[in-house]
Amino acid sequence: MRFDILTLFPEIFDSPFRASLFKRAIDRGLIEIGVHNIRDYAAGKHRVTDDVPFGGGGGMILKVEPVDRALQAVVPDRHSSLVILLSPQGEPFTQAAAEELSLSSHIVLICGHYEGVDERVGRHLADRELSIGDYVLSGGEFAALVVVDAVSRLVRGFAGNHETILNDSHSTGLLEGPHYTRPRRYQDWKVPEVLLSGHEKNIRLWRRRESLKRTLERRPDLLTRADLTEEDQIMLGALRDESEG
Ligand code: ADE
Repeated sequence: MRFDILTLFPEIFDSPFRASLFKRAIDRGLIEIGVHNIRDYAAGKHRVTDDVPFGGGGGMILKVEPVDRALQAVVPDRHSSLVILLSPQGEPFTQAAAEELSLSSHIVLICGHYEGVDERVGRHLADRELSIGDYVLSGGEFAALVVVDAVSRLVRGFAGNHETILNDSHSTGLLEGPHYTRPRRYQDWKVPEVLLSGHEKNIRLWRRRESLKRTLERRPDLLTRADLTEEDQIMLGALRDESEG
């Protein structure tokens, strides 16, 4: 899978892809990442990438031509690539969106900067506009990193165990429950007995209950969309009674 990132600040990407699982995945050829400076595609001696907004108002707007020219250079075949503009006005980037994106072989991420991006970039050059959350970043670079990270780890072989990825928070529509490792006891803090019992069925039920409990407490909004079995509904009913009683 290949990612190409179009940015005015390519140096932001210098270190993140040289560390940890990214480095390993790149070395193994599982993912390729290209970073391109939009300024290299700007016209004129001064390579201007931004301009004042039509109609007045403050701030500078990223121009459409350099972005278009950069895209022409990095996208060999428009039909096999997915072009994404990162912006706070985009549709929410969720785990479901990450899973969808992981089916593409080539993703191009356009990082907006300054106070805005010429509307024609989102409307005519990008296939999708994504936001990583309801807050405003100073540019799309960190959003692009978030997207590359969340999508890459779904590529088979990227992370150690693909099975655990399928059980991640959000993959199942619920938050994950707690995890513990050695020691069994630290200070006064003990590991729940059931996890030490070796009783597989009880462990599975406990984990599911904790996952439902945590979701109910922290993100009840997720429960309306989660895929719940009859057993889940019963556990959830009991958890609701407990929290009310
Ligand atoms: N650029 C600025 N803020 C952003 C956000 N929340 N998501 C994606 N791109 C952005």
